[in-house]
Amino acid sequence: CITLQAQYDSLIHNLTTEQPELHEVLRRMRSDVMDPYNNINNYRFMVTEAYSPAEVLVAYYGTEEDPEADFPYNFELIELTSENLSGTTIRDMVELWLSNVPEGEWPNFVLGNHDNWRIADRIGFLYKRCMNVLLLTLPGTPTTYYGEEIGMENIYVSYNDTRDPEAKRNPCCWKEYTRDPERSPMQWTPDPPSAGFSTTNETWLPVNDNYLEGINVE
Ligand SMILES: *[C@@H]1O[C@H](CO)[C@@H](O)[C@H](O)[C@H]1NC(C)=O
Ligand SMILES: *[C@@H]1O[C@H](CO)[C@@H](O)[C@H](O)[C@H]1NC(C)=O
Ligand SMILES: *[C@@H]1O[C@H](CO)[C@@H](O)[C@H](O)[C@H]1NC(C)=O
Ligand SMILES: *[C@@H]1O[C@H](CO)[C@@H](O)[C@H](O)[C@H]1NC(C)=O
Repeated sequence: CITLQAQYDSLIHNLTTEQPELHEVLRRMRSDVMDPYNNINNYRFMVTEAYSPAEVLVAYYGTEEDPEADFPYNFELIELTSENLSGTTIRDMVELWLSNVPEGEWPNFVLGNHDNWRIADRIGFLYKRCMNVLLLTLPGTPTTYYGEEIGMENIYVSYNDTRDPEAKRNPCCWKEYTRDPERSPMQWTPDPPSAGFSTTNETWLPVNDNYLEGINVE
């Protein structure tokens, strides 16, 4: 079984990603599509999403004369795992980003999203509170993922019950692809059958049972 990642990695992408022409596209998106809709009450805010090194990403801020994104998502923290979590790793990540952000631009940090395991499963249950504090005290805009603020954890979904099309298409290595574990419904209350998310127990993905053990907003 050759995973999609292995197929991708077997090719050189220097003509298909991070192309200089992208800046022109972003500039035009800013000046022709977004800026005309700005008004005193509504500024159109642009975020770009790419998993490139910090030095490459900061170019998507554009320049003062030719602005592009308000910020490119900074995914450094999302790449932390229990293997490489340490104070110095985090300090290096924060310094790398802050030293690359152009003068006058606005920093940001992303700790969780729908494509990555939950903090408790990726970094460790014991660290979820301190990682939330870290995210919310770093300079700039924090981006988190629903449920991280109450320490929600991954669910297990078997292949037969999998919803994520990427995983469905890759039965041989579906565990590597599935994003269902981090996509379970928000846990609002301690009430069965579905933690206040639904009045039935037949949600698109199952609710994590730990809503019964205190992991819920209420
Ligand atoms: C892309 O990479 C290949 C292999 O390293 C190299 O020969 C080629 O010059 C590169 N092309 C560009 C546009 O950087
Ligand atoms: C931590 O480990 C992950 C998974 O191997 C890797 O993607 C990431 O780049 C590592 N980060 C650092 C700072 O070593
Ligand atoms: C998964 O579904 C297939 C096809 O419906 C079935 O043959 C198989 O027994 C199921 N496996 C499990 C573990 O439920
Ligand atoms: C879902 O609810 C129905 C009706 O209350 C019940 O019979 C069934 O056992 C429940 N299923 C699960 C998986 O909890």
